[in-house]
Amino acid sequence: MSGLVSLRNRSIQPSFIKRCLSTTTPLFRGQNLTEKIVQKYAVGLPPNKTVFSGDYVTIKPAHVMSHDNSWPVALKFKGLGAKKVKDNRQIVNTLDHDVQNKTDKNLEKYKNIENFAKEQGIDFYPAGRGIGHQIMIEEGYAFPSNLTVASDSHSNTYGGIGSLGTPIVRTDAASIWATGQTWWQIPPVAKVELKGTLPKGVTGKDVIVSLCGLFNNDEVLNHAIEFTGDEIEKLPIDYRLTIANMTTEWGALSGLFPIDDTLVNFYTNRLLRLGPNHPRINNETIEQLRNNKLKSDDDAYYAKTLTIDLSSLTPYVSGPNSVKISTPLAKLSSDNLKVNKAYLVSCTNSRLSDIKAAADIVKGHKIAEGVEFYIAAASSEVQADAEAAGAWKTLLDAGCTPLPAGCGPCIGLGTGLLEEGEVGISATNRNFKGRMGSRDALAFLASPEVVAASAIVGKIASPEEVNGSPCPPTVEVSKTITLNEKPVESSDVESASEEDAGSVLPGFPREIEGELVLCDADNINTDGIYPGKYTYQDDVSREKMAEVCMENYDQEFGSKTKANDIIISGFNFGTGSSREQAATCILARDIKLVVAGSFGNIFSRNSINNALLTLEIPDLINMLRKKYADSEPELTRRTGWFLKWNVPKALVTVKDSEGNVVLEQKVGELGSNLQEIIIQGGLEGWVRSELKKEATA
Ligand SMILES: *[C@@H]1O[C@H](CO)[C@@H](O)[C@H](O)[C@H]1NC(C)=O
Ligand SMILES: *[C@@H]1O[C@H](CO)[C@@H](O)[C@H](O)[C@H]1NC(C)=O
Ligand SMILES: *[C@@H]1O[C@H](CO)[C@@H](O)[C@H](O)[C@H]1NC(C)=O
Ligand SMILES: *[C@@H]1O[C@H](CO)[C@@H](O)[C@H](O)[C@H]1NC(C)=O
Repeated sequence: MSGLVSLRNRSIQPSFIKRCLSTTTPLFRGQNLTEKIVQKYAVGLPPNKTVFSGDYVTIKPAHVMSHDNSWPVALKFKGLGAKKVKDNRQIVNTLDHDVQNKTDKNLEKYKNIENFAKEQGIDFYPAGRGIGHQIMIEEGYAFPSNLTVASDSHSNTYGGIGSLGTPIVRTDAASIWATGQTWWQIPPVAKVELKGTLPKGVTGKDVIVSLCGLFNNDEVLNHAIEFTGDEIEKLPIDYRLTIANMTTEWGALSGLFPIDDTLVNFYTNRLLRLGPNHPRINNETIEQLRNNKLKSDDDAYYAKTLTIDLSSLTPYVSGPNSVKISTPLAKLSSDNLKVNKAYLVSCTNSRLSDIKAAADIVKGHKIAEGVEFYIAAASSEVQADAEAAGAWKTLLDAGCTPLPAGCGPCIGLGTGLLEEGEVGISATNRNFKGRMGSRDALAFLASPEVVAASAIVGKIASPEEVNGSPCPPTVEVSKTITLNEKPVESSDVESASEEDAGSVLPGFPREIEGELVLCDADNINTDGIYPGKYTYQDDVSREKMAEVCMENYDQEFGSKTKANDIIISGFNFGTGSSREQAATCILARDIKLVVAGSFGNIFSRNSINNALLTLEIPDLINMLRKKYADSEPELTRRTGWFLKWNVPKALVTVKDSEGNVVLEQKVGELGSNLQEIIIQGGLEGWVRSELKKEATA
């Protein structure tokens, strides 16, 4: 076998393990909502297995969406030897990204996707129908308490309607098309408590922009989020969708809202719009939802709890050019920052309620001299509703420039991009430098109300200023953060008796062992691991890959390491691009396991997908850093410490050069499904073997 698995740390202290060795209490702990939903969609679990954060599971999601990238996914699917998709009801194809690109090349790509969908009987939504995520929600593919994935980073959006939505990579999408399945490691789950209610004029956008700005030290990086709150029922679904959507920018892998009466009412209203015969949103499915509102258990575990008091929020503006900077509107308003362009576009904030809110503000006014205000509905249905409500006309009368429903300036495509030296204010979700046009422009994000007010006043302004009143002052936001200690899991350690421990498949090692080689840095990126100049050369041999592995990080890496070493590194290992060679070059060096404080999420997925194992053990890097605190710095250092990972016990033991145990740590369980993927050399190999099984069955 080769390959890697990113096993997240389950943070049990050594002292603690020793303490539990004598106890006999069986494990009984409730599940949070995330774990409950994964449980429903996990396949091939041993009987009575309850899944928790850290566990690797094979999942069969309710639906998988892909957009313009459906063609690369289709090519991958065909490349794996697949002919027919496993379940065409599971798959949705939408065209939403490059919809303004009418070149022959793009039209041909779009046609290819449409033809593929037709051949396979896949539900297909053409360019102009709207943004994929919005369609998934409007058409009920993403449904409360269901697992919905998409090959797009904003799949978190589905959390707004209580559906666990998370991004996947193209290989995962191809695997689901071919077999119905892929894998997931349940992330640590953070509870975000939204206390109280929002003051008038403060919106969902302000909530998420504030959260990103107030907790800007990676507090939720690669976590699943669950939103709770004593009065969360009062938060409208459109606000929840905006908040969930931008949990992506906050660094999270999902952002789940509760399944409550507000949500059920949202579906009852949807039904009025859709009529009685919709295949997914109908009396029966809504009745089921009403009678079975999935909730987390009272004794569920959350890795941390972040709290903010909604009643202390005032409108916030994010930027310029980063969601990690958020500034109270009152401050920017007093700076008199002139705007050139305003945008009410994209899936984030261009639903009916957003368009109506903007229309209420511009009504009876004209857009300021020298300002262009672009509007595009999240979908054609939203646009039709906004037209029927008169809101669309109000915006056009004020001088707005309409764009087709779908993506556009938000991702730097089509008309209306920011030019050099310009200032833009937008109700979208990302403002990275250069994303919306020139790198020398300033991009700010705000609510539809603030965007509309700024377009009328001609500078960043509050709705009050449209009618000549001053911008209301800012108050201090009340926030807290609590790290929760992991409950004692006696059975984790009890399974010390091998019989009741997890099983190991033939061909998978029971133990993985090697000397730890310390690469002492944080954020070693994919270019440090595998130089960019080789990434697009297809004919690089395994020997060459091994030779250049980590050379951008340390020229001496190759000479200092040998086969079966284990790399130990700092935090956010493998951040950066999505190049798969970052995982495969480590395997080419005959290193089968990387341990780090934490990993970049895409690197983690690429690792398993290519059969490289990973373990997340922050305590270990911290111990080694302490040990070498006074030594000469060295980029690559042999430590003389040996790590042994007992796979069935899911237990890692580290011994120092004298053979003393310095660390004992529980890690996520590597179920037999995951072992099979690794044995097959990664996800693609596994899909091929599944297809072969089917062909011979
Ligand atoms: C239009 O789409 C084609 C095919 O995807 C792409 O190669 C080209 O760069 C796009 N053009 C623009 C202006 O974005
Ligand atoms: C949601 O999940 C349930 C249970 O898996 C399933 O019966 C239902 O069809 C799903 N709904 C959608 C819209 O996929
Ligand atoms: C669906 O439910 C509504 C209200 O409960 C009812 O008026 C309607 O007749 C039902 N429709 C169908 C098709 O059963
Ligand atoms: C969330 O934001 C992204 C990026 O603009 C967008 O692609 C996606 O459709 C949005 N989803 C919704 C429904 O808000």
